[in-house]
Amino acid sequence: MKPVIALTKGRLEKQFLSFFASLGYDIDPLTEKGRKLRVETDEFAFIFAKGPDVTTYVQYGIADLGIVGGDILAEIQPDVYDLLPLPFGQCRMAVATEKGKSWSNQKKYIASKYTAITKAFFKDKGESVEIIKLEGSVELAPILGLADAIVDIVETGTTLKENGLVIDEEFMEFSARLIANRSSLKIKRKQLNPIIEKLQQKENE
Ligand code: PRP
Repeated sequence: MKPVIALTKGRLEKQFLSFFASLGYDIDPLTEKGRKLRVETDEFAFIFAKGPDVTTYVQYGIADLGIVGGDILAEIQPDVYDLLPLPFGQCRMAVATEKGKSWSNQKKYIASKYTAITKAFFKDKGESVEIIKLEGSVELAPILGLADAIVDIVETGTTLKENGLVIDEEFMEFSARLIANRSSLKIKRKQLNPIIEKLQQKENE
């Protein structure tokens, strides 16, 4: 059976595919997949899922390997083998607020997709905040008055800028990472080693 690789859909998917092509792999079946969520190449079977679900498919052994953001790993802390950083998907975690907003002494409301990271961050600071969980487009929350600030990943900074938000504090850096199912690594080591080594080699160049 071909090794199964779970890919995070969206921005990371595009970056992974150019990286994968640069390693000499044929990506045509992957770029021409349309709305299909499962695609096979000569060597691998790929599945396409949202970041948190990539970790689930890898943890439960449906996928042998996964490509996922370090931010997702930090938030979920799944039971997978975190193999190595990949040379794309660089981003940082930041607290952002509306431009010119002054922080009051009242209890702060913080909107985020990353509730565990947010909780740990404010606990470390010794600040008590109320965290409001959102699934996306978190930049809306301060603009619409749902929250005083957001905790979110910033890559280019365009989303913050175009929504009138500014960074208050940056506190973590991430890149995309290669993860593996713990038993796949033992049982399918021979089959997986070539691709792991290739991804690693490129990273070290
Ligand atoms: C992420 C993040 C920001 C944006 C940052 O959202 O939540 O909104 O990217 O990127 P930038 O600094 O390059 O503008 P994503 O595109 O994953 O969509 P989402 O809002 O649905 O989570």
